[in-house]
Amino acid sequence: MLAGLDIGTSKATCVVAELDDDGELVISSVGEASMRDGVRNGLVVNLQQVSETVERAIEQAELVLPWSIDSVYLSISGEHVRGFAGRGSVSVGSRNEGGASVVSAEDVQRAEEAARAVSLPPGCIVLDTVRRDYAADSFERLRQPPLGLKAEQISARIYTVIADRVAVDNLISCVEEAGREVAGMIPAAVASGRAVLTDDEMEVGVASVDMGAGTTDLAVFRDGSLAHLAVIPMGGDLITGDLQALRISRENAEEIKREWAAAVSSKVDPNKTMKVSRLGGRGTFTVTHSVVSQIVIDRYVEIMEAVADELARAGFRPEDLPAGMVLTGGCSRMLGARETAGDVTGLGVELGRPDSFRIATDLVASPEYSTASGLLPLAMSGDGETGISGKRIVGEIVEKLRDLFGKVR
Ligand SMILES: Nc1ncnc2c1ncn2[C@@H]1O[C@H](COP(=O)(O)OP(=O)(O)OP(=O)(O)O)[C@@H](O)[C@H]1O
Ligand SMILES: [Mg+2]
Repeated sequence: MLAGLDIGTSKATCVVAELDDDGELVISSVGEASMRDGVRNGLVVNLQQVSETVERAIEQAELVLPWSIDSVYLSISGEHVRGFAGRGSVSVGSRNEGGASVVSAEDVQRAEEAARAVSLPPGCIVLDTVRRDYAADSFERLRQPPLGLKAEQISARIYTVIADRVAVDNLISCVEEAGREVAGMIPAAVASGRAVLTDDEMEVGVASVDMGAGTTDLAVFRDGSLAHLAVIPMGGDLITGDLQALRISRENAEEIKREWAAAVSSKVDPNKTMKVSRLGGRGTFTVTHSVVSQIVIDRYVEIMEAVADELARAGFRPEDLPAGMVLTGGCSRMLGARETAGDVTGLGVELGRPDSFRIATDLVASPEYSTASGLLPLAMSGDGETGISGKRIVGEIVEKLRDLFGKVR
């Protein structure tokens, strides 16, 4: 049995899966509890509230299980979760021989170490390191280490994901306060990508974009592995907030956003109007579909521009991502979300939901559950074939952190 826990800005979700006789993961239970304001842009700001919410989500998942959930794989988000691409090159064999030598495991290890040697910003820890590819002399993008080949020089490319240590510890504390252990941590962007992308898409180049309430988690995959990761501290809460400026309650704003407004101008109906109650019960007034939708579009475009900027900064042009963007998270449900995301970023956009499970998919078949359900296959595969992220490395980090904080406290 494996349990994944996603502590999102609007809700905590616990997804439990078991292995069936064929060795496939089958979702057996899902628990969810809504978060009030204990998480802001992916960061814990109220430990008590978050740990209570976590407990409720886990207890709900436990209701249909004959056992209790003692440990969970945890997603981690927030702007502090970032990645660096590193490349390390070394000469093969001993230098005075000159010419090409046979590449040894030790040469590969030296190249990997050099690629890992990114200097960590203060207060950060390494969440994960992903081996991307190798080069031997003029042969680039080799999937496997060039062991046994003759070469003069080899290099390794490694993508390192880091996070703020304090934010990580706060997140772990929420789970421990709820009486459970953290078995490992996986970046939310990577988990969502794993849940909604196909192997083919990850191979040719694709961006997974999970737009939630407080964060937009971006992960780019190319050649089958993680090539870039970033978290933009903006999400659907901003759109709801903008609509509230019409002097309506948060509930009304949320409802208008979900049920009525359009996020693309071609779906705006200039003749449509709606009566809404003024904040504080001060009567009603009429809003037009055009006005409301324009508010939504403006903010949504801003968030998608931030995604496009991030991709451009990291050096990804639309032609580098032939599989385009797969959009998921609660905000992918907005009317016209796909079209506007495509217009702004210049990428072909598809909507993604978790569907990598054979049975009981209806339990998690919504874009809000992408992160939680992607945790499970990653936890199971470890740092394996997909080369994206895994339990072994993150598990060790949690151990190390615990030792570290155990000493400090
Ligand atoms: N039908 C809908 N139309 C528009 N927006 C929606 C719809 N359903 C949900 N949302 C929005 O999606 C957001 C919640 O998405 P999600 O559950 O993925 O976020 P989260 O995981 O809690 O937050 P985050 O990942 O940002 O920390 C909210 O802003 C909500 O208003
Ligand atoms: Mg989320």
